[in-house]
Amino acid sequence: MMERIILDYTNMGDVLTDDALRQLQPELERAFATTLQKTGAGNDFLGWLNLPHEIDAALLADLQQTAESLRAKSDVIICIGIGGSYLGARAVIEALQGPFGDMQPNHLPIVFAGQNVSAWYMHDLLRLLDGKRFSLIVVSKSGTTTEPGLAFRILKEALEQRCGKPAAAERIVAITDQAKGALRQLATSEGYKTYPIADDIGGRFSVLTPVGLLPIACAGIDIQAFVQGFQTMATALKADSNIMTNPALAYAAIRTLLYRQKKQIEILVNFEPALHYVSEWWKQLYGESEGKDGKGLFPASVDFTTDLHSMGQFIQDGTRNLFETFLLVKKSGYAVMIPRDASNLDELNYLAGKNLEEVNFSASQATTLAHRDGGAPNMTLEIPAITPFYIGQLLYFFEIAVAVSGYLLEVNPFDQPGVEAYKKNMFALLGKPGFEDANRQITSRLQTTTLKRIG
Ligand code: PA5
Repeated sequence: MMERIILDYTNMGDVLTDDALRQLQPELERAFATTLQKTGAGNDFLGWLNLPHEIDAALLADLQQTAESLRAKSDVIICIGIGGSYLGARAVIEALQGPFGDMQPNHLPIVFAGQNVSAWYMHDLLRLLDGKRFSLIVVSKSGTTTEPGLAFRILKEALEQRCGKPAAAERIVAITDQAKGALRQLATSEGYKTYPIADDIGGRFSVLTPVGLLPIACAGIDIQAFVQGFQTMATALKADSNIMTNPALAYAAIRTLLYRQKKQIEILVNFEPALHYVSEWWKQLYGESEGKDGKGLFPASVDFTTDLHSMGQFIQDGTRNLFETFLLVKKSGYAVMIPRDASNLDELNYLAGKNLEEVNFSASQATTLAHRDGGAPNMTLEIPAITPFYIGQLLYFFEIAVAVSGYLLEVNPFDQPGVEAYKKNMFALLGKPGFEDANRQITSRLQTTTLKRIG
């Protein structure tokens, strides 16, 4: 029987009563209806909402074919993109390939670029490509983002030098706006294979479009099962507006109620290292969707038990302005039995014969209770297993919850005006044409600022 993702909020303790949850029902229902009926702020960016059931079988088949063709001609595939054009693919690939995915025998590595402008990173990546056959998937909805633009320019030149322009063009796939932007123009003139990104789907909601699906398919992951996960979760969540039975609504409601009690930081916790980038994806989804107009929960994340030995102290005992959401994988599917040791110097024989997974589970239970007792209320999302199907379910769960949560917060969950500020300064500093006035202003500001430096 198919299991479901369960939200367990037992460890919210006294900070959250069922009455408080029920009282939020009318407000929540309005936010949910605003989402489903597409009547709220940013409603022209809700293309992801019904996408699980609108996705075209022919597109999936085409993506699969492209993935196979790229795999056949590559030792490494490089995905170039940043933010929403990067994190979804990385989250899904790393979750499903497992902690040492890239070191498995006969494994085709998927490497990411364009998510930073580090010369060191690019230098080492170029060195890694020495003597290897590689292909490029370049993703940019706007087609004008600086980081992926620079990475693509550098890697495209390396590829063209390696195999000549015509052969390079056959190893490049561009995913971008259907009509506009520099990348669309370049792809048309160079004859690259392309996939469009729909106008009504923003970057952080684009994992179920070619933006996420092509790299995921290139990693050899079953994209059909991933889509089915989205479909199953969409069907279940959209049919139920009851806060006490719809886990995504309950999640949106709980975090809203905690925020209203000045718990202003939400920490997403995992006990599986492979989920690290699911948290990175989640942080972008929630941070960009809610952090605006002087409002919003700050989304943070930790990997346990690793970070119990660093951030654990603060979470247990520091400023009481946080709560946690645990991602708990019910079955990792792996058995590693703990051996008995004749000397037992480490005094671990009491665990001999147990599966390491049991220890991990006990650690998670111990942590949820300890943190609750320490004043860090927490809830748990129980995920039956890490498979393409359940990862698809989880991502849609978070997408719909953030829309509702954003409307409860009375912000537009689908824009990100704040991302522009650093870009304007950077363009001004770098002397981008059109930024001459801004360049003069920022240069004089830097020259006249009294520096406060020590050491
Ligand atoms: O969610 C978003 O909109 C952003 O994170 C973008 O995805 C990111 O800035 C990359 O933009 P683009 O795809 O236009 O290069």
